[in-house]
Amino acid sequence: MEYSATAVACSNIALVKYWGKRDSRLNLPAVGSISITLDALQTVTTVSFSSQLTRDQLILGNSPADEAKTERVSRFLDIIRDLAGLNMPALVESENNFPTGAGLASSASAFAALALAATSAAGLKMNQAQLSSLARRGSGSAARSVYGGFAEMQKGQLTDGSDACASRLADEKYWDLNVIVAITSESEKQVGSTGGMDHSASTSPYYKDWLLSSDADLTEMRTAIKSKDFTKLGELSEFSCLKMHAVMLSSRPALIYWNAATMAVMNRVRDLRQRGIPVYFTIDAGPQVKLLTLPEFTDRINDEIRTLPGVTRTIVSGLGPDVQLRSTGD
Ligand code: PMV
Repeated sequence: MEYSATAVACSNIALVKYWGKRDSRLNLPAVGSISITLDALQTVTTVSFSSQLTRDQLILGNSPADEAKTERVSRFLDIIRDLAGLNMPALVESENNFPTGAGLASSASAFAALALAATSAAGLKMNQAQLSSLARRGSGSAARSVYGGFAEMQKGQLTDGSDACASRLADEKYWDLNVIVAITSESEKQVGSTGGMDHSASTSPYYKDWLLSSDADLTEMRTAIKSKDFTKLGELSEFSCLKMHAVMLSSRPALIYWNAATMAVMNRVRDLRQRGIPVYFTIDAGPQVKLLTLPEFTDRINDEIRTLPGVTRTIVSGLGPDVQLRSTGD
């Protein structure tokens, strides 16, 4: 017996960042976040539950994944097996259309695609809020990738986490924004986000203020999106990013995710702005820099950024759609 489904999801980047958990077991965020979904960074995942298998298998690209990644996916599938009353191992085949191992966050698109493919294969019907809440169990940022365009993740109040899910602020057609991803290192990051968040929560003297100031950023960002105020959106994105990195840097020992090229890109962005070009940066828990701009400026900015020393390549993206089901079969 076999039940299978394929889903495709886009990655996203947070404009107002999430860093910190209020519950590690259920993966509940300590702060809300607002993101945009990126059409150039997609994951396609097929899940096949099969009575022929003896254990879960994960194939990333064309190669079997290591034990740690397979185990993480297995624990996630257990939640779905419990909900569906299904007792079969699964083959999970997942492919990114962007360079893997380039240190680009792929957990957002990966767990959003996995959530939809696995629930569909298991015969579960979920609305988007339920799917988002489920995707969150795999990775906090995956909850946002259920939605295209602009999404807001709620930190929620309930201890069972059922209100910690994302919702749509605006779809991908609402506002034509571009993101240029500048890749400055191809190696995997040293400290993953879960370990990094726990470390900041227990050691950074700024962590409490980070939590206290998040709601004001979220309110301001909602207003910027509503009024399509690009300057406000950009300034606030840089502010939230640098505030998060200040928490990382002030953790003990420090979490330093930047390299020399990361700094070079940030400096060039500030320089471009001095020359009247609307561009802002944001950086997650890694050395890549994502630049926010308007489409008419993308080529000019890209020409300047991709030739900077230490930038190995750039990827240009627009806003992407909701997670989608591609096929089901049994
Ligand atoms: O989704 P996670 O658990 O990998 O955490 C994402 C954390 C940041 O990328 C640094 C910020 C964010 O809101 O995406």
